[in-house]
Amino acid sequence: MSTKTISKPSDSKTPPSEGLGEAIIQDNLNYTLFSWSKQKGINPIAVKYGEGVYLYDYDGKRYLDFSSGLMNVNIGHGNQRVTEAVAKQMQEVSYVTPSCVTKIRGEVGKKLASVSPKGLTKTLFTVCGATSIDNAIKLARLYTGRHKIIAKYRAFHGASYGAMTAGGDPRKLAADSQQMPSVVHVEDPYCYRCPFGQTFGSCKYECAEHVERVIQFEGPENVAAILMEGESGSSGCIKYPPDYLKKIRAICDKYGILLIADEVMSGFGRTGKWFGVDNHGVVPDMIATAKGITSGYLPLGALIVSDKIAAHFDDKVLWLGLTYSAHPVSLASSLEVLKIYEDDNLIENAAAMGKYIDQRMEELKIKHPSIGDWRNTGLLGCIELVKNRKTKEPMAPFNAKPDEMVVMNKVAARLKELGMYTFVRWNYVFVAPPLCITKEQIDEGLTMISDAISFADEHTTP
Ligand SMILES: Cc1ncc(COP(=O)(O)O)c(C=O)c1O
Repeated sequence: MSTKTISKPSDSKTPPSEGLGEAIIQDNLNYTLFSWSKQKGINPIAVKYGEGVYLYDYDGKRYLDFSSGLMNVNIGHGNQRVTEAVAKQMQEVSYVTPSCVTKIRGEVGKKLASVSPKGLTKTLFTVCGATSIDNAIKLARLYTGRHKIIAKYRAFHGASYGAMTAGGDPRKLAADSQQMPSVVHVEDPYCYRCPFGQTFGSCKYECAEHVERVIQFEGPENVAAILMEGESGSSGCIKYPPDYLKKIRAICDKYGILLIADEVMSGFGRTGKWFGVDNHGVVPDMIATAKGITSGYLPLGALIVSDKIAAHFDDKVLWLGLTYSAHPVSLASSLEVLKIYEDDNLIENAAAMGKYIDQRMEELKIKHPSIGDWRNTGLLGCIELVKNRKTKEPMAPFNAKPDEMVVMNKVAARLKELGMYTFVRWNYVFVAPPLCITKEQIDEGLTMISDAISFADEHTTP
């Protein structure tokens, strides 16, 4: 069998080709549909190639990717080690049914066990974040014989019907008339805008008491699981106050409820640790993950479960399955990506660069009155822009309508013009670059952000 070395196509970095980018965009607009958008008026970047923290379009313009794609490209773009690993796997076998085994499946399972919190050893491989969450919910119901799932309003867990229902993110509202039954939502521990009118430091963790109260109303004997992100992401990086997750774990233990950590976005070094929960000294009963498991090089998800849950199914049927569970090629990309995290010390770098951004953000706060809050863990950060620091009136409200996004759209347009790709959502600007970022590249990005939010400053009152 030939095992040719794979290299990048020779034309990937050829000089700009006039009009090609436009033609590519046009084909995409004519023949494909775009998520979460009106289909008219979209102006996407036609990406020719990516390298490290940068994306390049067909006109040769460089974009600093300050959100790691969808907070998934943790190792950075264009790493050819992954290409080689994937090609090698495809030269051997590209697909086997989930009832067969491959060397790579066992290897990735073993590697995940070694980086997961103690006592979480076995993994069911899925295809993405939503399928990890859906299967976590099913498994919690099968294991406990209970049906209710407690989850937070300000959370996104995926776009399938189950995951969508578990989330409270307003992206679901247009299609929520037939939601999955038996999900109950609770308020977030959003200290900057505490829903209980408290201030952190003098509060009694009313946010955690609220969760326990809701469980009592719902009947603890009916509650299968509490589902929470390991660390909040696209809902605004709403950092858990220090003991919050420990309190949630204690509530779970008190009532025999499972704790499911959604580590789809917060997993694999994003927060400066392997998993978000590692920052809180909490061991969940299940970890549902995806994204960073392959750094987005191929689709893959994983549901890592406690030994107790796994053992329960030794003599009972595990009623879960997917055609593409444990896909060998995706797993090959995963194993290589997991090695890259270690070989290149990317998780340590995420922690160090996160601290550097925190420091630099203190300077930006002095310069920009529109910065109301900065919340960050490792490289999962978000600037919250306000019209007035005292009243905390947001620059754009939660679930803002197009006409409420005028200022924020200008901020986003300026960032793009300056050569940055990142998320701007409502009044949030996300800072979540690949974990391989350097201080110089962070400075480059923060200079662009400082320029762009100067426009928001003009819309603030002292
Ligand atoms: C926290 C979290 N959970 C789940 C998902 C869903 O993942 P996927 O889009 O791979 O289904 C996402 C996606 O952004 C996420 O951020």
